[in-house]
Amino acid sequence: TKRIQVAIDGPAAAGKSTIAKKTAELLGYTYVDTGAMYRAITYKAIRLNIDLQDGEKLTKLLHDTTIDLKPSENGQLVFLDNVEVTEEIRSKEVTSSVSAVSAHADLREEMVERQVDMGKNGGIVMDGRDIGTHVLTNAELKVFMSASVEERAKRRYLENQKRGIPSSLEELIEEIALRDKLDSEREASPLTQARDAIYIDTTSLSIEEVSAQIMQLAKERM
Ligand code: C5P
Repeated sequence: TKRIQVAIDGPAAAGKSTIAKKTAELLGYTYVDTGAMYRAITYKAIRLNIDLQDGEKLTKLLHDTTIDLKPSENGQLVFLDNVEVTEEIRSKEVTSSVSAVSAHADLREEMVERQVDMGKNGGIVMDGRDIGTHVLTNAELKVFMSASVEERAKRRYLENQKRGIPSSLEELIEEIALRDKLDSEREASPLTQARDAIYIDTTSLSIEEVSAQIMQLAKERM
C-alpha cells in the first residue's frame, strides 16, 4: 500500500485536529497541525510587540523563527525557537489575533513552503484552512469538515470544561463566527473547500463515525 497524503480543512473548532490526530495514529502517519504554526508566530509577534498589520515585519520574523511539531502521547507538542509553547499558543489573546497574522500573503507563502516540505514524502495527515487548496494540492484524500457554529461552540465549550478552562458559550459562538468570517474573507488563500475535497457535515456525527468514514476513504486511496 501507498503512504498517501491526507488534507483536512474546515472552519474553526470543527473537530479537525481531533480527527486528523486519530487518523494519523490509526494509519501510523505523521500529524501536522498547521494552525499551531500560525498560532506560534502570532504568539512570538505579540511577545515582541510587533504590529500585527505589518506583513513585511512579520514575514521577516518568521524567516528567523523555527517552529517544530513533535508527536507526544496526547497529540503534539509545539516548539517555538526550541522552547515548548503548546499551551501558550491556545490563549485567548493568540486566538483573537491569529487571523490578522495569517492574512498576510508573504507570511503564508513561507508557511506553505515549510508545510509542503513536511508532506512531500507522504504518510501525512495535515489539518488547516488551505491544505487542500494550497499545500497538499495533489493529496490522494481531501476532506472538508464542518458543523453548525452552535455545535462547534458547544464542542469547544465542553472541551474547555474538561480541561478546567472557564468559558462562555455565547462568547465562543461569537469568537468562532468572527474567526470564520476573517479566515473566509481574506484575500490570500481564504478558507474554502477544494474542488476535489469530500465534504463531511459532522453536526450530528460522533468522533468515531467521522473517523470511520475518513479511514474508509483513505483505504480506498492507498
Ligand atoms: O486550526 P486553528 O484554529 O488552530 O487555526 C488558527 C488560525 O490559524 C485560523 O483561524 C487561521 O487564521 C489560521 N490558519 C490558516 N491556515 C491554516 C491553518 C490555520 O490561516 N492552514
